[in-house]
Amino acid sequence: MSTHERANLAPRGAAARGAVVVEVAGQAGATLRADPSAGAIRSVGVIVPTYREALNIPLMIERVGAVRRALRGGGVTLSLVFMDDNSRDGSVEAVARAAASEGAGGSVGGGADGSGWARIVVRTTQRGLSPAVIDGLRSCDADAMIVMDADLSHPPEKIPEMIAALEAGAEFVIGSRYTPGGTTAGDWGLFRRLNSSVATLIARPLTRAKDPMAGYFGLRRETFERADALSPIGYKIGLELLVKCRVRRLAEVPIHFADRVHGQSKLSLKEQVRYLRHVRRLLTYKHPNLAALAQFGLVGASGMAVNMGTVLAAERLGAGTQWALRWGIGVSILSNFALNRRFTFGHARGGSVVTQLVGFVLTCLVGAVIQYVVTARALSWLAEGSPTPLAVPFGVAAGMAFNFLISRYVVFARGGSRV
Ligand code: GDD
Ligand code: MN
Repeated sequence: MSTHERANLAPRGAAARGAVVVEVAGQAGATLRADPSAGAIRSVGVIVPTYREALNIPLMIERVGAVRRALRGGGVTLSLVFMDDNSRDGSVEAVARAAASEGAGGSVGGGADGSGWARIVVRTTQRGLSPAVIDGLRSCDADAMIVMDADLSHPPEKIPEMIAALEAGAEFVIGSRYTPGGTTAGDWGLFRRLNSSVATLIARPLTRAKDPMAGYFGLRRETFERADALSPIGYKIGLELLVKCRVRRLAEVPIHFADRVHGQSKLSLKEQVRYLRHVRRLLTYKHPNLAALAQFGLVGASGMAVNMGTVLAAERLGAGTQWALRWGIGVSILSNFALNRRFTFGHARGGSVVTQLVGFVLTCLVGAVIQYVVTARALSWLAEGSPTPLAVPFGVAAGMAFNFLISRYVVFARGGSRV
């Protein structure tokens, strides 16, 4: 262990505390006095989701064990729980063995006896990383919880610094790759780096965190308990908690993100598609009107492409220009309807399709009239001799505003409430 790492083991030392920057939403870098409502942290639960990590488990127990001993000097107790999805790769035995040699008195399989500091819970229902983490958080009764990967890409030696950040007033702390001082093991290819930054960018409207994707994070029990209904889809349980716990005071502790020691990542392409759905849900949760408007706009833009494509196809198939234009309008209204019903106003999917379709088509027709009237009006407001196309955006804006408001509050107002 380097001297640097050793220094980090100092429990809640002045140095660690001084390094902590707590960010208040909207005020980057503001330092904060400790939240008076937040008491001292006397116990910490480390929650580690695992799937086939038998080789990493002994290393984890050893390194977390060193942290535990250091914290104990400062009067803080630490417990470690692996939330395993029935890996059957010797993980249970690995905990028992390592725990015995670490003096952990490993309690295994459901871990009801509570005697040891390290244990493994074998889950047999509802597989998945996020559900495993949520289960772990729910069943933990410590003052603060830390969640981390089992593959040693997250340095356990940073735990004391993360706890110091929570004690300094943060509600949520991230072991961050992208905050100043944070680093990532060298051999990430261009694709993986690009992938990670695009994913981070997409989460921008949800949080100011520099590393919102992180699987290494900590929070106080009170913060977790005020979470709104959690939807455990996908890998990004940290992001879900940041949003659903309405975190305002956030700290990011720089870490070196190491390459996984044994085994391989379970993050697949499927997970990345799921991530997009997850972000869409969180956006809808956090900014319902803005999210609907943005999706409505995107659907409108897609309608333009559908319209042009249909005109092209109709002409190729021998339709006259007038009929091709009519087909273009008709087909794009239908595709807009389908997409808005599925995405923009997904909560209304339970309602009657026929009623909604009739309502949507009528709205579009009235919207077109409004667009025409406003465009004509705008032309008369504009300075004499202005080019006619300049009037078009006014009409489009008025027509779209009408379409959006009537769609949202009338056509798709009802029908279930799934987001
Ligand atoms: N219980 C359970 N069930 N655990 C799982 C499952 C599952 O279905 N899938 C993965 N895990 C565990 C792994 O054993 C590991 O401890 C941790 O969850 C993360 O899985 P990895 O497979 O190592 O993920 P990764 O390295 O690709 O992704 C990590 O880094 C990302 C940022 O680059 C994770 O920390 C992500 O959350 C993070 O976004
Ligand atoms: Mn990993």
